[in-house]
Amino acid sequence: MIYEKQYDEYLALVDDYIEKLWDDAEELPKTDAPPLTLAKAMRYSLLAGGKRMRPVLLMAAADFMSVPLMAALPYAAAVEMIHTYSLIHDDLPAMDDDDLRRGKPSNHIVFGDGMAILAGDGLQSAAFETMLSAAANGEIKPENAIRAMKEISLRAGIGGMIGGQVIDLESEDRQPEAGRLFYLQQKKTADLITAPILAGLLLGGASGAILSDFEKYGAGLGHAFQVIDDCLDVIGNQQELGKPIGSDAEHGKLTAVSLYGLSGAKKAAEEFTQDAVNALAPYGEKADFFTELANYSLSRMR
Ligand code: IPE
Ligand code: IPE
Ligand code: MG
Ligand code: MG
Ligand code: MG
Repeated sequence: MIYEKQYDEYLALVDDYIEKLWDDAEELPKTDAPPLTLAKAMRYSLLAGGKRMRPVLLMAAADFMSVPLMAALPYAAAVEMIHTYSLIHDDLPAMDDDDLRRGKPSNHIVFGDGMAILAGDGLQSAAFETMLSAAANGEIKPENAIRAMKEISLRAGIGGMIGGQVIDLESEDRQPEAGRLFYLQQKKTADLITAPILAGLLLGGASGAILSDFEKYGAGLGHAFQVIDDCLDVIGNQQELGKPIGSDAEHGKLTAVSLYGLSGAKKAAEEFTQDAVNALAPYGEKADFFTELANYSLSRMR
C-alpha cells in the first residue's frame, strides 16, 4: 500500500509537469513554440496515458539520494518524452506496424506517417532541451546534471535503445537465438529502464557501489519487463494493455516467447525479477519501493 501511494505521488508530479508542455502552442506565433499540428501530435501520444514507469523510477532514485523532487522532475519528464518518441516510431508501418497504442489509435493513424516521425523527433529534442534548461538553472550541481544527462543520452542512443531497435528489426523472421535475444532485451528495453534509475542517483551525486548495484537492478527489471511484455503479447488483453495482441508472432519477432515458449518465458521473467530484487539486498528497507515495483511488474503477467 505504501508502494502504491508512493508511486501515485511521483506519478502525479510527472503528469502535472507533462500536462503543461506545449499547451500554449495555439498562441502562435511564438518563437519557442512548435507549429500547432506538431504540438498536437506530440501531446497526443505523451498524454495518452501509459504507466510512466521510467519517470517514476527517476523520481524514486532521486528521492533515494535526497534530491529535491522538483529539481528531478524535468529529467523525469524528459525520459518519458524519449520513451514516448520510441513508441511512436516503434508503431510506424516501417517498424512494428501497430495501429493501437495506450488505448488510442497510434500517432501515425491520426496524424499520418510523416507527422508521426516528426512528433517523435520533436519529443526527442524537447527532452534534451528540457534537461539542459533545468541544468542551466543551477538547482542540481552542474557535474551531477551532466553525468545524469550523459547516462540518459548513451542508453537512449545507438549503443542503447536505438541500437536495440536495430537488432529487433534485423532479427525478424530469423532462427531465434539466445545470445541475440539477451542483447536485444538489454538494448531496446533494459537500457531505457536503467537510464532513469542511474540518472536519478547521479543527480544526487551517487558513485561506486550504489551505481553498480542499481545498474544490476535495472538490468534485471528491464529484462523481466521485456519478457513480461512478450508474454502479454500472447496472453494479454487488448483492452487492458491498450495495444494489439499477437503483433509479435504476426511480424516474426524474436521474443522470449518465440525462443523459450510461454512457460519458459514466464520462468525467465521470474528469474530476472529475482536478480533485480537480490541486487538491492544490501539496502534493506530503504530499497523497498524498487523491489516492490519489480514484483508488481511481474504480477502483471500472472
Ligand atoms: C512499452 O513500454 C515498450 C516496451 C519496452 C515493452 P511500456 O509498457 O512502459 O509502455 P507505456 O509507457 O506504459 O505505454
Ligand atoms: C519496444 O518493444 C521497445 C521500444 C524501444 C519501443 P516492443 O515493440 O515489444 O514494444 P510494444 O509491445 O510495441 O509496446
Ligand atoms: Mg518493437
Ligand atoms: Mg512494438
Ligand atoms: Mg511488445
